[in-house]
Amino acid sequence: TGQADVGGFSGMGHMGGTNTVKLVDAATAMTKLKLPEMLAADSETATEITYTVTAQVGETAFKAGGKTRTIGYNGSYLGPVLMVREGQTVHINIGNQLSEATSFHWHGLKVPSDVDGGPHSAVAPNGTAQVDFTVKQEAATLWFHPHALGTTARQIYYGLAGLIYIEDEHSDSLDLPKDYGVNDFPLVLQDRTFDADNQFDYAHTYSADGTFGDTLLVNGTINPYIEVKNEKIRLRLVNGSNARNYRFSLNDQATFYQIASDGGFLESPVAMAALALSPGERAEIVVDMSLHQKGDTLKLMDGSATVLALKVTEEITGQTSLPEQLNTIPEAEDAAQLEVKRFTLSGMGFMVAINGKQFDMDRIDVEQDLNKKVIWEVYNAPDMMGGMLHPFHVHGVQFKVLSRNGAAPPLNEQGWKDTIAINPGETVRLEIEFPEKGVFMYHCHILEHEDIGMMGQVSVE
Ligand code: C2O
Ligand code: CU
Ligand code: CU
Repeated sequence: TGQADVGGFSGMGHMGGTNTVKLVDAATAMTKLKLPEMLAADSETATEITYTVTAQVGETAFKAGGKTRTIGYNGSYLGPVLMVREGQTVHINIGNQLSEATSFHWHGLKVPSDVDGGPHSAVAPNGTAQVDFTVKQEAATLWFHPHALGTTARQIYYGLAGLIYIEDEHSDSLDLPKDYGVNDFPLVLQDRTFDADNQFDYAHTYSADGTFGDTLLVNGTINPYIEVKNEKIRLRLVNGSNARNYRFSLNDQATFYQIASDGGFLESPVAMAALALSPGERAEIVVDMSLHQKGDTLKLMDGSATVLALKVTEEITGQTSLPEQLNTIPEAEDAAQLEVKRFTLSGMGFMVAINGKQFDMDRIDVEQDLNKKVIWEVYNAPDMMGGMLHPFHVHGVQFKVLSRNGAAPPLNEQGWKDTIAINPGETVRLEIEFPEKGVFMYHCHILEHEDIGMMGQVSVE
């Protein structure tokens, strides 16, 4: 089709059956994109910041016909943006006002495991806790979500997910769009099904290979649009879906530029015609609207479904160009010198496993030395019905992708990653180094697979 680099995976061959449902809701008019609020700090100095994040129940108006019972952080659905800076010491007061346990996992943060918020750190109903950490990583778009044992998929489905923006001196200095809600927008992508009463009915839409919905929500908005100037627009894409893979493109087939992957800026902007994103992954892209005029609408698509309409409502004169260099990513070490740890992803549905085992909180699966680079070689065994794509995620790190089936990864995967789509039959090699001690999870980010037990534990000492 003449498509450029799609990164990671392409085609629709190995996804769950319901993944092909068209993501449309013709009955809902175009609606202005909801923007998560930038959370106001409880207190802030140059070196420290304190936030409060509370999981709570609520009701959310998504569409005509009545509100939907949902859960959210500091609100009824999804959560705010926590803005932190490299070097800053962060305190987060967490609270659980739900009627069941939850945990607060900071996906992509390099923090000790007692801060990480995995299944060992559940907070009981009406419970509170505090986490403290120093931000020891570069500018990136991360997210946070629950991770208590066996309830992650359902709690995220009903609305628990928020954003973390890390900024640093380097990101301050880069000439990139950075006016929140003006030319810099987060897009949290989720698919949901509404029942006849406008409710989410997770139990009845559940699938062990990932629960899909027939309606796309972007930041909780159905059929969203944004009003922009004809300038460069930065979109921070977060695949917050339980299981859906997206393949983004523009409706006029124009090229866009990926500038960041999960853990920070790419070395240089990567020109792309299409971008694949599996659950848990993030990508920042820049869409150049300079060839458009007032009155034009450009659409970000997922296949034939519209994800977001960008309406030009104002023209500017004088365009900026993208920086040629965005980051310096260190070279990988000589792989022959590094120890290799092997992981096999297998099964489907309730049979999913890693190295033949399902998750056990009381079992350590891998031991690893602190601050030591090793290679994780992850093989996706197509052992049942041709297998399926598994997004493999590791806590507490940002890794480098060394190869896919022995070949160099696409350019947009040559930056920092914490989640990587692995196709059936594929072997992906990662260079990985744990900067903090503790017991960390690694798992499939199809949330139902994670809950079923496609997850293991690495102990870092
Ligand atoms: Cu985004 Cu272990 O999770
Ligand atoms: Cu995570
Ligand atoms: Cu999986």
